[in-house]
Amino acid sequence: MGVAISLRGLTHTYRTAEGPLTVLGGLDLDIADGGYAAITGPSGAGKTTLLSLLGGLEAPQTGRIEIGGQDLNGLSGDGLAAYRRATVGFVFQHFGLLETLTAAQNVELAGTLNGATPAERRSRALDLLGAVGLAERAGHRPSRLSGGERQRVAIARALVNEPRLLLADEPTGNLDDDSAAMIIELLERVRTDHRCTLVMVTHNRELARRAYQRVPLDRGHLVPA
Ligand SMILES: Nc1ncnc2c1ncn2[C@@H]1O[C@H](COP(=O)(O)OP(=O)(O)OP(=O)(O)O)[C@@H](O)[C@H]1O
Ligand SMILES: [Mg+2]
Repeated sequence: MGVAISLRGLTHTYRTAEGPLTVLGGLDLDIADGGYAAITGPSGAGKTTLLSLLGGLEAPQTGRIEIGGQDLNGLSGDGLAAYRRATVGFVFQHFGLLETLTAAQNVELAGTLNGATPAERRSRALDLLGAVGLAERAGHRPSRLSGGERQRVAIARALVNEPRLLLADEPTGNLDDDSAAMIIELLERVRTDHRCTLVMVTHNRELARRAYQRVPLDRGHLVPA
């Protein structure tokens, strides 16, 4: 139910006012179906860029990127959006929740599963919030939740379309140590229960060590760990 990831010679260049900026320089990487990888490295190393390419938020430029047997090369716009909906769940450092919606609405509105009625969507959102231990907080807006609770809502939201690939960009970056540990354990449990592939960016060495595979980046290249 996860995806295998295969990158070959993946290069990414941003156009900037100062000219082209190459942030990934020909990356080769394999992550197994159901794998658990931690991307580490200094600020500006290209970690978020790599995650954005894996998640179809950036269109691939040169090199090959194959995820779950699907070739992302040549996809853009609608093709990438369809790939994201079908395959990917995202969790971000800043949670990315809509402040005007309750926890349940945040989860519910991310749902695009075909054929679900509004009642089914609502019930699924509540089930997911229950699974992350927030059944009692379903009606709270994010401003009434702690950081750890917000991130649990964001994880519930990421799961609403049953992603085969779960991507997390510094999911514990804004959390205290105890909340961070809880979030990591939750992500690990989700990976096991849903048999998805988990790729996480983290600055925290201890957290990175828990992954089965480390992807240390520096200036767009893999470096010896
Ligand atoms: N949309 C963009 N346009 C132009 N340059 C960008 C863009 N996104 C990122 N960059 C540049 O690309 C480089 C890599 O950025 P990226 O966000 O991938 O780094 P990162 O490893 O995630 O860093 P951090 O740890 O600070 O989050 C940086 O120098 C950044 O300024
Ligand atoms: Mg980043």
